[in-house]
Amino acid sequence: MDIAFLLGLLFRWLHILAAIVAVGGTVFARFVVLPTLNEWPAEERARLHAALRARWSKIIQAAIAFLLVSGLYNIAVTSIKYTVPAWYNPLFGVKFLLAMIIFAVASLLIGKTPLADQVRRNAPFWLNLNIALAVLVVCISGILRTADKVPKQPVQAEMPVSGPATP
Ligand code: HEM
Repeated sequence: MDIAFLLGLLFRWLHILAAIVAVGGTVFARFVVLPTLNEWPAEERARLHAALRARWSKIIQAAIAFLLVSGLYNIAVTSIKYTVPAWYNPLFGVKFLLAMIIFAVASLLIGKTPLADQVRRNAPFWLNLNIALAVLVVCISGILRTADKVPKQPVQAEMPVSGPATP
């Protein structure tokens, strides 16, 4: 087992775990936290929301960082070491763009700026959008995984050291 193999495995685990946490947390926020908060009196709701936001924001920031670092490592290794089918890079570009939109919306939903406050007023819409985009990103990632990646420097077939001369 070489170091590149172990690093690739580590980043793959990080990528999948961060995606699970970010997407799962978003579904939980939309379909459990938000409806529950709405059942509370306004003042308590605001306090509870601020406490939840403070904790969740650290997790989502870490998930975004892990997804970016592991994703960039993955794509760098793929483009350096492998020849990919013609559709791979354009499809990866679509995935990357969608991921950036997801990160921007997620950052606004946990942000402290006036714009973030404005976005949060329509939180169900933005959470629905992020869930839909995340489903699309996971589906695209599944397709990318099926690509036939051919090593750029194929291992040379071993030549026989010596052998009987063929008649
Ligand atoms: C919402 C954000 C994201 C989600 C939910 C997500 C999800 C996934 C999933 C589920 C896989 C398949 C993992 C596997 O089977 O090993 C994957 C692979 C991958 N992701 Fe992401 N990802 C996200 C963001 C990113 C970003 C920002 C990048 C690049 C900077 C990226 C680059 C990659 C690459 C290169 C692969 C490998 C594709 C292949 O098998 O050829 N991802 N991603």
